[in-house]
Amino acid sequence: MYYPFVRKALFQLDPERAHDLTLQQLTRLSGTPFTGLIRQSLPFKPVTCMGLTFKNPLGLAAGLDKNGECIDAFGAMGFGFIEIGTVTPRPQPGNDKPRMFRVVEAEAIINRMGFNNLGVDNLVENVKKAHFDGILGINIGKNKDTPVEQGKEDYLICMDKIYPYAGYIAINISSPNTPDLRSLQYDEALDDLLAAIKTRQNDLHKIHHKYVPMAVKIAPDLSEEELIQVAESLLRHNIDGVIATNTTLDRELVKGLKHADEAGGLSGRPVQLRSTEIIRRLAIELQGRIPIIGVGGIDSLVSAREKMAADASLVQIYSGFIYKGPPLIKEIVSNI
Ligand SMILES: Cc1cc2nc3c(=O)[nH]c(=O)nc-3n(C[C@H](O)[C@H](O)[C@H](O)COP(=O)(O)O)c2cc1C
Repeated sequence: MYYPFVRKALFQLDPERAHDLTLQQLTRLSGTPFTGLIRQSLPFKPVTCMGLTFKNPLGLAAGLDKNGECIDAFGAMGFGFIEIGTVTPRPQPGNDKPRMFRVVEAEAIINRMGFNNLGVDNLVENVKKAHFDGILGINIGKNKDTPVEQGKEDYLICMDKIYPYAGYIAINISSPNTPDLRSLQYDEALDDLLAAIKTRQNDLHKIHHKYVPMAVKIAPDLSEEELIQVAESLLRHNIDGVIATNTTLDRELVKGLKHADEAGGLSGRPVQLRSTEIIRRLAIELQGRIPIIGVGGIDSLVSAREKMAADASLVQIYSGFIYKGPPLIKEIVSNI
């Protein structure tokens, strides 16, 4: 009820300033009785996926809480799972500002943040302090100054550090804002990365006596042929889940709108159909052997249901949450 007013105030500000201010306030609320101000009591709608039980199928997508600073606050709003990150081994500032833009008419966002984050050690400390009783996903990437040929090492460093604390680990090879990162989605580079990740997962499983599923996050800009190759590679390496999709480089659906020509990844309503199409196509290739987490343009119960009808087991929101706020969580979780 109150979100339209909050949004009106926040949308007066530069998008990144609004984001930082909101996270600051949520960090302050976390763990205090004032969390009650944002708490939503929602029905229990359990889903089993990747061997884990999620209390409901709606998650917060990666990138909003990159350092895991507000886990309890987002948990209080009713998300069944929260994906924090993308985090990299070392802290890095990301790209120059401005680097986040609202395309309001299309309920979309363009960002070229570039994995600004405080590093994996900081994230682990934040996770240790959290009390969230849902599933915590941790999304990992490589530092900008790590050459892509050595990128694999960055994922393994992050895995070692977060493994004991993660419900699942998301491998981000689909952000358009780290030079060459998306090349890890193709051919031998993908096979090589997935083989290394799977070997390390087995080692860590033995050390920690805990199996943490690995999910790979893909771009919506893959061609049909590329998508089939990705699916085959995921199956070959027994990857536990796939997150579809990240932001798109395509600008067709926002042509002529303010900020449409900014460089970066486009998210929100314009990516909705494309990401659902990717999920549908992926589902055919995977034949139920690897579960899909659907994300991209979900802005209502209807669009969440469309993702699930396309065979997503779980769904996530980011841009829709910026435009619609906590009532969107309630609308989806209560009725899905
Ligand atoms: C400002 C912004 C930052 C993002 N940062 C990340 C990130 O760090 N890692 C990641 O995997 N996805 C990131 N994403 C992508 C989202 O997690 C999601 O895949 C994408 O936005 C599509 O969903 P949406 O249409 O609901 O926003 C980011 C998205 C936005 C808008």
